[in-house]
Amino acid sequence: MAFERHAKIERNVTILAVLTLITVMIGGLVQITPLFFLENTIEKVEGMRPYTPLELTGRNIYIREGCYTCHSQMIRPFRDEAERFGHYSLAAESMYDHPFQWGSKRTGPDLARVGGRYSDEWHVQHLTAPRKVVPESIMPSYAFLKDKVLDPRDIAAHLKANRTVGVPYSDEQIEHAIADLRAQANPMGDPTDLQRRYPKVQVRDFDGDPSRLTEMDALVAYLQMLGTLVDFDSYVPEQNRR
Ligand code: HEC
Repeated sequence: MAFERHAKIERNVTILAVLTLITVMIGGLVQITPLFFLENTIEKVEGMRPYTPLELTGRNIYIREGCYTCHSQMIRPFRDEAERFGHYSLAAESMYDHPFQWGSKRTGPDLARVGGRYSDEWHVQHLTAPRKVVPESIMPSYAFLKDKVLDPRDIAAHLKANRTVGVPYSDEQIEHAIADLRAQANPMGDPTDLQRRYPKVQVRDFDGDPSRLTEMDALVAYLQMLGTLVDFDSYVPEQNRR
C-alpha cells in the first residue's frame, strides 16, 4: 500500500519536486537553526592575541608572495594530520586573520604550527635556496626578501584597517606601531613595552643581519610565531569543560 503511494510520487515530477524541496528545507533548518542560539561559534581559548606589527608585516608579505597557493594553515582533525603537524587547528587560532589562510591546496606542508619547528637560520636558508636544505624541494626561491629593506611607515594604517574589521588593536598599539615593529627585530633594545602589549612576542634579529630591517626579518618573525600562541598542554576542548 505504502509502496504504491510512493510510486505515485516517483512518477509525478511536480509532487516529487515539492516534497523534495520540503525535505531539503527541514534538513537545512535542522542544521542552521541551532547556530542562531549559540552565543559564539568560536570557542574561547587562552593565549590568542593580535599580530605584532612585525608579524603582521610578515603576514602581508606571505600573502603578497602567494605562499598560500602552496601552503594551507589548517590542520584537520584526522589522525595522520595531527601526527604530522600537531593538534588540529581551532577556530580561535585564525580569529584575527583577515583574510584567513586556511587554504585548500597543499603542494607544500601545512604551516599552521611551523613556528619553532626550525631555526631562523634554517628559514632564511630555505627561503633563499630551498634545494640547499631540502634537495627534492620544488619551492621557489625568495632570496630577494633579504635585500628588501622594510618600509614601516604604513604599518599603523594596517593595524587600523584590521581594527575596522574587528581585530581589537588598542589606540596605544596603533600609536606605537612603528616603534614596536623596530623593537621586535632589535635584540639590543628594551622590549618591555612591546612584551606588555604583545605577550609571548619573540624578540631577536630574524634574518641574520642585525644592521638592517628587511622583509626577510618580517616573514621569518611571522613563520616563527605560527601556532605558538595557544598553550595546548592546558587546553581542554569545550565539550569536556565543566
Ligand atoms: C610552488 C609551491 C610553493 C610556494 C609558492 C611556496 N612553497 Fe613553501 N614549500 C613548498 C614545498 C613543496 C615544500 C616542501 C619541501 C621543502 O621543505 O622545501 C615547502 C616547504 C616550506 C616550509 C617548510 C615546512 C615544513 O614543515 O617543513 C616552509 C616554512 C615554507 N615552505 C614556507 C613558504 C613561504 C613563506 C612561502 C612564500 C614566501 C612559500 N613557502 C611558498 C612549496 C611552495
